[in-house]
Amino acid sequence: MTLILSRSEVASVLNMKDCMAVVEQAFGELAAGTAVLPLRTAIAPPDGISLYMPAYLKQMGALACKVVTVYKNNPAKYNLPTTIGKVLLQDPGTGDVMCIMDGGYLTAVRTGAASGVATRHLARKDTGQVAGFFGAGVQAKMQLWAMAEARSLSKALVYDLSEEAMKKFIGEMGPKLNLEIIAAASPDELMKADILVTATSSPTPLFDGNKVREGTHINGIGSHTPNARELDSAIVKRSKFVGDSMEACFKEAGDIMIPLNAGEIQKEHFYAELGEIVTGRKPGRLDNSEITLFKSNGLAIQDAATAKLVYEKAFAAGIGLQVEI
Ligand SMILES: NC(=O)c1ccc[n+]([C@@H]2O[C@H](COP(=O)([O-])OP(=O)(O)OC[C@H]3O[C@@H](n4cnc5c(N)ncnc54)[C@H](O)[C@@H]3O)[C@@H](O)[C@H]2O)c1
Repeated sequence: MTLILSRSEVASVLNMKDCMAVVEQAFGELAAGTAVLPLRTAIAPPDGISLYMPAYLKQMGALACKVVTVYKNNPAKYNLPTTIGKVLLQDPGTGDVMCIMDGGYLTAVRTGAASGVATRHLARKDTGQVAGFFGAGVQAKMQLWAMAEARSLSKALVYDLSEEAMKKFIGEMGPKLNLEIIAAASPDELMKADILVTATSSPTPLFDGNKVREGTHINGIGSHTPNARELDSAIVKRSKFVGDSMEACFKEAGDIMIPLNAGEIQKEHFYAELGEIVTGRKPGRLDNSEITLFKSNGLAIQDAATAKLVYEKAFAAGIGLQVEI
């Protein structure tokens, strides 16, 4: 039998705390060499792009493949979202597909979880920190949830080009996390934050990296193509650079590829993969003045670990539809 889980069923069993725990384990497996993580495969039909993201985590027993499509004309032409994702979870023992679940909400939570894990290991430890968010969209909301899980926050600041998006962000996340969230009038206002998150669709830098205060931790999650970047060369140069995957960073992340190609940094500027930090192979933050930066491209190991968690919780609670295929 195969369990089918809708978006709302996934959401009903998935919380940030548990997701951060399994995502941290997944990064640990990547560092330990027990994860199989082929690069994502892309196929481009005429109207869009289809990405296949497989992964296997040996210790966790998680075998999965996410299919994500980006079709820009979907909303206008078919009243469908631009990005659609489904995850197929297999039994590593038999190879059979145990579960097919919606991947939209899962992706946002697992992306938040990776930043949450990075923040827990790299940000300063003092309580009452202020978190600042560039972008107020789907990802930014889950990033805030993860920041609130990783550190005790006194408040959050948000800056988005869309007033409407900021209003929704504050209206939804303030009550959910019982946190004061303030709309910022300019990117400069976010420079007083202790933790910064960039989660926008912008292909160009969002702020002047020279203005970032010492001791800040940054999670950069938005841009993921060689020619797009949310972070300027100044902040990349000033930061201890940690990536989810070195390979993905040098193939997909303009944030590091652009300064590298311009000769502003050397390849060695890439300090560590997140897995090396969480397993203690390399030390994280050394003092309260360092600026730490986590660059997230999004890895299939995050999806596999999270999908297994969702399946187990849903199965135990009798949620979803079992079908014979
Ligand atoms: N790293 C990962 O694993 C991962 C996973 C999923 C999505 N993403 C990426 O995250 C980004 C955000 O995704 P989303 O689903 O939240 O999109 P979204 O469309 O819901 O939100 C993006 C927001 O960014 C705002 N924005 C654009 N340019 C801006 C600027 N210069 N300053 C301030 N705000 C600006 C937009 O107004 C919008 O509200 C996308 O680029 C997406 O591809 C990354």
